[in-house]
Amino acid sequence: MKPFSTALTDLFNIQVPIIQAGMIWVSGWKLAAAVSRAGGLGLIGAGSMRPEVLDLHLTRMKDNCDRPFGVNLPVFNPYAEALAEVCLRHEVKIIFSSAGSPKRFTPMFKRAGARVVHVVPSVALAKKVEAAGCDAVVAEGTEAGGHNGFEEITSINLWPSVVDAVRIPVIAAGGIVDGRSMAAAMALGAAGVQVGTRFAATPESSANAGYKDAIVRAGEADVKLYLRRFMPTRTWVNPYVKRTIDAEQRGATREELDELRGSGRARQGIFEGDQEEGELEMGLAASRVEKILGAEQVVREMVDEFWHTIGKLVKNSG
Ligand SMILES: Cc1cc2nc3c(=O)[nH]c(=O)nc-3n(C[C@H](O)[C@H](O)[C@H](O)COP(=O)(O)O)c2cc1C
Repeated sequence: MKPFSTALTDLFNIQVPIIQAGMIWVSGWKLAAAVSRAGGLGLIGAGSMRPEVLDLHLTRMKDNCDRPFGVNLPVFNPYAEALAEVCLRHEVKIIFSSAGSPKRFTPMFKRAGARVVHVVPSVALAKKVEAAGCDAVVAEGTEAGGHNGFEEITSINLWPSVVDAVRIPVIAAGGIVDGRSMAAAMALGAAGVQVGTRFAATPESSANAGYKDAIVRAGEADVKLYLRRFMPTRTWVNPYVKRTIDAEQRGATREELDELRGSGRARQGIFEGDQEEGELEMGLAASRVEKILGAEQVVREMVDEFWHTIGKLVKNSG
């Protein structure tokens, strides 16, 4: 694999500027270790873990991988404080916080000597991330799987806008599945990419086979944003999501939607593989994922195709 040198490879001491996104029920230590060993940066997704489970994943991670890795910590999580303490205890060196204020955990982790990155869906929030003292920012367009911003800004518009608005390195997310989309993101000024859905469909992902199969089967109209007024979430469309979207279109209140939704839908969809009634969070790019590939192969093919794409661009312009 041809090596890279970008602000991101320098910041994290990695070989290729590919971050495997933190994903609930998907990115445990196995996936993170596979991506870090392949030269990218693997993130353990703490959002679906109790503190004792994160503790276990961090122990396994350290036993199985001597490359840099990080933890994704959603700020709104009810266990966020306790999860952060587990990260401090394990001396985690890289934290990707998301879904909440970048001010909450950044000072604490910076004091402990960690690199801190925060995920945003808009330029306005990216400026706050820079002001909070973060080392980099993830600009996540609305194509992304999982929870989204209310702004619904597309990746192609968001990435260069954030690049122009801040001085810290920008990591592009939302819709990146291969070397061509990676090249597009970096042509728009990103120092690297964060990839979710593509890595969710790997053998190392802890998601259920039914969920991975849904990613592979998803066509261009099968993934939608729902709960747009209260908690925008991008997911595979199944009978449960259709019912919810119908209710939203009829003007259902937040309470009515909460009742319809109940609890544990993401676990039911992603971890238990219930294709009918679960929430199977995935990005629009699922329609471009055609098979389950090993995480190392995903990294290698992405890098090779990236260089091939860049080479072709230069040739075509000559
Ligand atoms: C199944 C799934 C779970 C996710 N869980 C989280 C999470 O816990 N925390 C977070 O910051 N982002 C989460 N995301 C968003 C990803 O971190 C990432 O930014 C996004 O998937 C990138 O877009 P892509 O899916 O088009 O690659 C999740 C995405 C998916 C598909």
